[in-house]
Amino acid sequence: MILEVNDLRSGYATGDVLQGISLTLEGPGVIGVVGRNGVGKTTLMRTIIGLLPARQGTIRLRGEDVTRFSTEDRARSGVGYVPQGRGMFPNMTVLDNLRTGRFVGGGRHAPQFDLVYGYFPFLHQRAKQLAGTLSGGQQEMLAIARALIGGPDLLLLDEPSDGVQPSIVDEIGDFLTDLVRTRGMAVLIVEQNVDLVRRVVDCAHVLEKGRIVATLGGEEIRDGELLAEHLAI
Ligand SMILES: Nc1ncnc2c1ncn2[C@@H]1O[C@H](COP(=O)(O)OP(=O)(O)OP(=O)(O)O)[C@@H](O)[C@H]1O
Ligand SMILES: [Mg+2]
Repeated sequence: MILEVNDLRSGYATGDVLQGISLTLEGPGVIGVVGRNGVGKTTLMRTIIGLLPARQGTIRLRGEDVTRFSTEDRARSGVGYVPQGRGMFPNMTVLDNLRTGRFVGGGRHAPQFDLVYGYFPFLHQRAKQLAGTLSGGQQEMLAIARALIGGPDLLLLDEPSDGVQPSIVDEIGDFLTDLVRTRGMAVLIVEQNVDLVRRVVDCAHVLEKGRIVATLGGEEIRDGELLAEHLAI
């Protein structure tokens, strides 16, 4: 079991957003979290990585209870996090952005520059360029590379398709599928983009008002209609 979230509650001064979320990632593969704006998807990601404290429930990484661990210690336990909006430093170079990932990974491994340059050769060619001059899709790839450079085995992705043109969204989807196949990665992805969800996830939890109200399996997702219904505004 790579990730086990049990009965998780968390939120803000205004009250609890997550009303008892339970989910698991048993091994390599991609699990989706889908739902309309404001249902608590980012709150869930932030609680799993430790940027928000859990008010109730537990989070386990490979069996270890990390509910009270700092964000840094969770990263060190092998979790890569790509926040919504990417969290780039636009006025820093591509290389310096990648270097910040070394710390995110907690220095568990030497930073794997060759690995991420192999995945995204343009990052090598543009290493000296300011990150803010990259296209939305390239910035997303940089953010993913930064999360991978410390050698995580669990990747948390919050709406990677946001602000990315459709052909590049497809490319990112194929990349994630490849990462699961070739590196045995476990991925938890928050998405509202039906095409990307259909392309990559093995199953998807539907979030509404801080609760999982449905879990769609492979066929239901590929069918698309049910998924679109759950995401319709
Ligand atoms: N810092 C904050 N303080 C108070 N309330 C917040 C804060 N951040 C988010 N919220 C509220 O918590 C709820 C869940 O927000 P969250 O960002 O988790 O939703 P989301 O599903 O990620 O939405 P989106 O699809 O727009 O990214 C919303 O009602 C939101 O207004
Ligand atoms: Mg969000």
